[in-house]
Amino acid sequence: MIHEVSCIEYDKELILQECDEAVFEPYVDPKSGKSAHFWMICRDVGPYTKEINKRMCKSLDVQCHPRYYVLKDQFEVPWHYDRGTMCAINMILSTDRDPIWFRRDGIESSHSYSFSLIDVQTEHRVAAVTESRKLFKMSIFDITFEEAQKRLQMLQEE
Ligand SMILES: [Fe+2]
Repeated sequence: MIHEVSCIEYDKELILQECDEAVFEPYVDPKSGKSAHFWMICRDVGPYTKEINKRMCKSLDVQCHPRYYVLKDQFEVPWHYDRGTMCAINMILSTDRDPIWFRRDGIESSHSYSFSLIDVQTEHRVAAVTESRKLFKMSIFDITFEEAQKRLQMLQEE
């Protein structure tokens, strides 16, 4: 469900700075058409963030689509499966004390992380409990979590 990423080096402060300077819009649920004022997205990421995304594409040999998300303090994204995205590499730019929750076969588990591959086709939820949750997400549409994990493991063995 989750696999730590350590194959690239990066300056998190610089990504956070670009995230703070970015222009956001409310996330619109493609199914209901409803927009969420507490769940903001930016698909036009900064130049350094783009560079990191490019390096990730190269490492995994797959197209990754970079975005920032901000979940406002005291809000939550309830249980869901991502639409269209098979897996994603997420970097938490704010506090990593608020975990992601997974639910599989009725069993819930929580995981704190700062830079990890996430299986977004397993039901999951997040809540911004401590503070607003800022996220840099590299969405992957073309390979499964298992395949991406395999590729990461191969890189880590090198
Ligand atoms: Fe999600």
